[in-house]
Amino acid sequence: ELSPIDKAKFVAARRAVDFVSDGMKLGLGTGSTAAWMVRCLGERIREEGLRVTGVPTSRRTAELARQVGVPIQTLDEAKWLDLTIDGADEIDTQLNLIKGGGAALLQEKIVATASDQMIVIADAAKEVAHLGAFPLPIEVIPFGWRTTMALVEETLVSLDVLNRECTLRMTGDRPLVTDESNYIIDLHLKRIGNPRQLALVLNQIPGVVENGLFIDICDIVVIGQGDGRVTVRD
Ligand code: A5P
Repeated sequence: ELSPIDKAKFVAARRAVDFVSDGMKLGLGTGSTAAWMVRCLGERIREEGLRVTGVPTSRRTAELARQVGVPIQTLDEAKWLDLTIDGADEIDTQLNLIKGGGAALLQEKIVATASDQMIVIADAAKEVAHLGAFPLPIEVIPFGWRTTMALVEETLVSLDVLNRECTLRMTGDRPLVTDESNYIIDLHLKRIGNPRQLALVLNQIPGVVENGLFIDICDIVVIGQGDGRVTVRD
């Protein structure tokens, strides 16, 4: 028996997998919600003989895809994708997102951008009026990361952002290292006034590889509830 939160993630994932048709090339997201999607996809492959190939957005997702029988390719092999299904940390009313709570934002953004469509799956708690209560992750090159972080703080000052605490993401007593061998800095902003502008200026800073704001990338949001209800927004 699933907990209400897992049930919400599961029903959203299962509904999103209904959007998959035979022959599609798919981007496979990362995180606990996306993991349900990969399992549901494996089930359709086994039960219906659905033929798809997936491009995983992390080593974790690649491993899960292998376990549940979803054939995988690299993005360079696939070149372009029909559909990406992924989770998110926050979703606003315009379907803009914060992602990267699971540290996979760089590959996630590359894969979602290389897809005709992106569907985001989530439990209802991820829907927000304004982005920013969830700390915004940015992926930075390890070289000079303290200097990069100082430049990020200066940039936030120049944008009149009031709450701008920045923290290096750790695992235990070491910096967390992403699949691309970078670090993650989390920006505690509380509320992001202009996500589009912030996404652009952050990526101008040398040392910043990518940020977790997904602007105009998501097309459809599938929200699950603990009681099994699902709503689809586009
Ligand atoms: C991974 O880097 C993230 O972008 C995830 O998509 C996000 O953190 C959602 O994860 P959960 O589905 O586990 O909440």
